[in-house]
Amino acid sequence: DKILLLNGPNLNLLGTREPGVYGKGTLGDIETTLRTMVEGNGWAFDSFQSNHEGELIDRIHEAIGQDVGIIFNPGAYTHTSIALRDAIAGANLPVIEVHISNVHKREEFRHTSLLAPVCYGQIVGLGSFGYKLAAQTFLEQF
Ligand code: DQA
Repeated sequence: DKILLLNGPNLNLLGTREPGVYGKGTLGDIETTLRTMVEGNGWAFDSFQSNHEGELIDRIHEAIGQDVGIIFNPGAYTHTSIALRDAIAGANLPVIEVHISNVHKREEFRHTSLLAPVCYGQIVGLGSFGYKLAAQTFLEQF
């Protein structure tokens, strides 16, 4: 049993990037919290962030065939990427989409997710706590 934390473009800037929207916590903080939680439950944990669509797709492909749940914040690719949607649909792995901010309170172009229809579920607007809820879901339900 394994959890892969995937973060897309600009999430490497968490902590300094629009802190009023995304909070002051860094991606490193989120990784540490999740690793402790996941490994404490006897599961393996891996984390990957990329600003490049193709690298995120490659990482999903690498997980194919493994017993892995993916927690994925795709950043702005959420709203644009048919290629990531196809990767998730083709991987046949459970993916929980996470957004730190409440995208529905923001610009119209953030209201649509091309990925959500092929994900197991979606967590939106709960800050970095959403990542913990996603991890808990895998640990308890899978
Ligand atoms: C985000 C929301 C996206 O609209 C935005 O492009 C991001 C972060 C979030 O976590 O709230 O980069 O995915």
